[in-house]
This record gives sequence, structure tokens and C-alpha cells, in this order.
Amino acid sequence: MDELNGKKILLGISGGIAAYKSIELIRRLNDSGAEVRVVMTKSATEFVTPLTFEAISGNPVHVEMFGPRIKSAIEHVELARWADLIVIAPATANVIAKLTHGIADDLLTTVCLALTDIDLAVAPAMNLGMWKNPATQENIASLSGRGIKIWGPAEGFQACGEIGSGRMIEAAELADHVRSYFAVNQTYGGVKVVITAGPTREPLDPVRFITNRSSGKMGYEIASACAERGAEVVLVSGPVSIAAPEGIKTIDVETAQEMHDAVFANIVDADIYIGTAAVADYRAATPAEQKIKKSADELSIELTKNPDILADVAAMDTPPFTVGFAAETNDIEIYAKGKLQKKKLKMIAANQVGVSGTGFDSDNNKLHVYWNGGDRELPLASKAELARELVALIMEHYDA
Ligand code: PMT
Repeated sequence: MDELNGKKILLGISGGIAAYKSIELIRRLNDSGAEVRVVMTKSATEFVTPLTFEAISGNPVHVEMFGPRIKSAIEHVELARWADLIVIAPATANVIAKLTHGIADDLLTTVCLALTDIDLAVAPAMNLGMWKNPATQENIASLSGRGIKIWGPAEGFQACGEIGSGRMIEAAELADHVRSYFAVNQTYGGVKVVITAGPTREPLDPVRFITNRSSGKMGYEIASACAERGAEVVLVSGPVSIAAPEGIKTIDVETAQEMHDAVFANIVDADIYIGTAAVADYRAATPAEQKIKKSADELSIELTKNPDILADVAAMDTPPFTVGFAAETNDIEIYAKGKLQKKKLKMIAANQVGVSGTGFDSDNNKLHVYWNGGDRELPLASKAELARELVALIMEHYDA
């Protein structure tokens, strides 16, 4: 499979004659299965029109910070979160200087400043004098020291008629850089991960059931983050209303027992298990065969314990690297550490539930991850971002 397949690339285009090469770059990335969204600076629009990039990328082009076309006041944050990688090509001396000093005076530089864990690459394009200028060289060294990738420039004829270093590298070479970037990030290559997500539904009668508020978002993002790093993912999902992640084997189940069966049908050769699902601890001992009728003032339903999928996986003879979640309303650390020990887990990700803005059904969350001998806080972020951080953390410990 092409490493670029399914990758989301935000292409920043600043004002240089090399902007025309970005048309070819988008075509190459698209042909390899990547989705490209474009952010242009105002000066870039003097070289190639936004319409050209809209037509070639198949997505609206973003230029303005403010104005009637802007759907959200936090569009810059949304764009930064959407991307797997941001590439600025061409990157002028001016944009490079702004990135160096954290200046955010247009949409592109604001998106870059809003970046947290997403990588950024720049493809410098400028006149050779500007490239050689000590100011630019110091800026490039500073960006490189911060882990920003510098792709190019190339030597050769320049638009100004001079010959030397400063030309933007060709689209084919840029596409290769992007491909290699994702190839080295395929740290889960050859690793099989089984993930549970969403709630379970335990029937009381043919029309009623016990369930909880899990939306599946956290588990689905973890599945996508594992697949993004090259893992073979099996996602066992309770009933949710979000779309299944593309390209991931998803098994739909309803009850805890069905989830248990689906997990055990796929776990034998798994390397990692991540239990994100909010599995009902109890089910009705004997669900009614017909709809329960309203009669007495009080109704008692006998409940019986469901299998503990996470504990059963961790208790296998040769268990996978088993990661649990702990959803707690109070005393989070005590309960999470208790579950880590009692269920013999390698790691547990604890989150607060019962408050708005995190946990169940929210787009954001924060986690406190514990393992034997250590812990790490993953502060409030989108579930997509948190999933990437958690998956990277799991990989650090899985390798250890
Ligand atoms: O789905 P979202 O809306 O995005 O919300 C995400 C989430 C809040 C559901 C998620 O982040 C989370 O906390 N999932 C675990 C929910 C839960 O059931 O926690 P628990 O503390 O009750 O269970 C501890 C662990 O045991 C969990 O890994 C759970 O999957 C597992 N378990 C529990 C009971 C059971 N019978 N079998 C299990 O495997």
C-alpha cells in the first residue's frame, strides 16, 4: 500500500514563482491517495489563483483569516488539527522568518503557530541572495533545531536570471519527501491491534436496553491513529452513530457477550489490545421475551455480571500488550491504579466522566496514563490529537 494513502496533507503556499510547481505536487499526492487542503498567503494568490488549487485539490482553498467565507472563528485550529502533516511549498524567506519568530499575521502563519504535535515541513524558494543572507540562514538553522523539516532548496537557474541555490525542489522530489516522512512514521508496521469502542446494549426486553453515553469517538480515533502508523487494526464496536474509519476492519456488536466473543475471535495473534469501550458491567439475568408491561408501582430486574473482556485478555497465557481505560467520576488516580494492578494491565488511560467538555460524547478529552513505575498526563485536546499521543506512548512502552 502507498504510504500516502489516506493521509491528510495541508499544503501552505506562499508568494513565490515556484507556486506553479505546487499544482503538480497536489496531483501527485492525490494520485497516491492523499487528501490535500490548501492555505495560501495573499501574495501567493498573485502567482496562481485559488481557483486553480481548488480545482486540482477538489477542496476549498483557504486564504482569509476573517470574512464571509470563514465558517468558524477557530478555522486555523481546525485546519491544524485536521492535518497529518503540514508542508509549506513554496516557503518564502518572509514566511520562514515569521515561522522562526512565531509571527502569526495571516491564516497560514496562524495555522502553523496553532500546531502542537503535527509535523511541519518547509520547501524554501527564493532568490539566491535571500537564501544566502545570514538572517535566512539563521532562521533555517533555528527551524531545523525545532524539528521542522527543511526540504531543499535546489541549485540552478532562478526566475531572476541568476544561477545558484534557492530554487524550490521539483514536485516529484517533494512528493518523495512526503512519502518517506510517512514511511518512517509507520512505527506500527507489522503490529496487529485489537481495539474496542463505544457502548454495549444489554436488552431488558425486545424494545428496551441498558446502555451508557459512549459515542465511540475516543476508540475510533485510537483505531485511526494506529492505522495511520501502519498497524493492522481490528475495531470491535458497540452501537454508535459515527461512521466507521475507512480501511479498518470493523466488527459491529451489541452486547458485552458479543463484544467478548468478537475480541476473542481476533485476539490470538494480536500484539496490542486497547479496551476503550464502555462495556456494561451487568446485564439482565433473563431478558423478557415480550415487552414488559407497566403494572406494579415498583419493578425489580435481576442483573447478572458480564464477562470482563479486558481482564480476560490480560489473563491469557500469552497476552498482548494490554491497555485499559478507566472512566471515573472521582478519585481517578486511586481507581485507575487499582484497575491497572487488579486486571494485570500494562497501561491504563484514566479520564474523568460525568463533567461536560471531556469523557463521554465530547469531541475533546484529557487523559492521565499510568503504568507500573510511571505516569503521564495528556492535557485537554481533541480526541484525534490525544489518540495520536496515546498511541505514541503505547509504542514507547510496547518496544521497551
Ligand atoms: O466513546 P466516547 O464518547 O468517545 O467516550 C470515551 C470513553 C469515556 C468511553 C473512554 O475514554 C473510556 O473511558 N472508556 C472506558 C469506559 C469504561 O467502561 O471504563 P471502566 O472504568 O468501567 O472500565 C475499565 C476498563 O475495563 C475499560 O477498558 C473497559 O473497556 C473494560 N471493561 C469493563 C467492563 C467489562 N465488562 N469489560 C471490560 O473490558
